Amino acid sequence: MTGATEGLTGKVALVTGASRGIGAAVARRLAEAGVALGLGSRSGDDLGLAGAVAPPTDVRDPAQVDALVAAAVAAHGHLDIVVANAGVGAYGPFLELDPEQLERMIDVNLKGVLYTARAALPHLIEAGGGDFVSLASVAGVNAFPGEAVYNASKFGQVGFVRSLDIELREQGVRCSNICPGGVATDFAMGTGRSEDSPELEGMMSADDVAEVVMFALTRPRSLRLMTTTFRPMSEGSWG
Ligand SMILES: NC(=O)c1ccc[n+]([C@@H]2O[C@H](COP(=O)([O-])OP(=O)(O)OC[C@H]3O[C@@H](n4cnc5c(N)ncnc54)[C@H](OP(=O)(O)O)[C@@H]3O)[C@@H](O)[C@H]2O)c1
Repeated sequence: MTGATEGLTGKVALVTGASRGIGAAVARRLAEAGVALGLGSRSGDDLGLAGAVAPPTDVRDPAQVDALVAAAVAAHGHLDIVVANAGVGAYGPFLELDPEQLERMIDVNLKGVLYTARAALPHLIEAGGGDFVSLASVAGVNAFPGEAVYNASKFGQVGFVRSLDIELREQGVRCSNICPGGVATDFAMGTGRSEDSPELEGMMSADDVAEVVMFALTRPRSLRLMTTTFRPMSEGSWG
């Protein structure tokens, strides 16, 4: 691990999409660093982490997101870190996507991040500063065939967080887009791919991504990461 995590002990973090994949890996790393947790997913999984609060939360519903943030603050007293990670993908030609898939990607990936920011940021500001980490994607800065709506959702997410960075820097809130390439999770196996899809070969692990999130969170507060892209060695940097 690059960068000591001692500075995180006693902090409180909210992680959405925490029940598996990247969110679960980030939550476990934060818990190891002594961070108290509020975890959001529809299944409400607390990952067995001591003290974690995990009310079932669908990030498409602003009232549920408000309730998740309120539960984390009620349990732990304050909020310092947000990892807006919940996300879904469906691959394939744009004209073959059905309206439900289209709406789900925009609602979870884009509107879910807006609702999370809206509910959580006042607490970071009240705490005198903090970190808002958005788990975006290389698809938030590069276009890919078969990912038009996913691209739209992730470009929107990246743009939103870049604007927040400008708005909130002077209040001590660092807003950071973390943009991985392929990560071997359930997501990567998602709609439109099968186990022998060439895209799946040599992908990064969820722990690799958690390492980068922890790197961002442990930088000295005199600097901030804004939009960080990274890929497995097996992937080119096309797009
Ligand atoms: N895997 C990749 O190749 C890759 C690459 C770049 C970026 N990303 C991004 O990384 C993030 C995490 O992806 P992942 O690979 O870890 O995916 P994953 O393994 O499929 O996990 C997705 C997580 O999001 C939660 N979730 C889904 N819909 C939700 C909703 N409506 N409300 C609340 N939680 C919801 C799921 O929990 P429940 O089902 O319990 O709700 C789960 O915990 C996403 O934003 C994704 O776009 C992934």
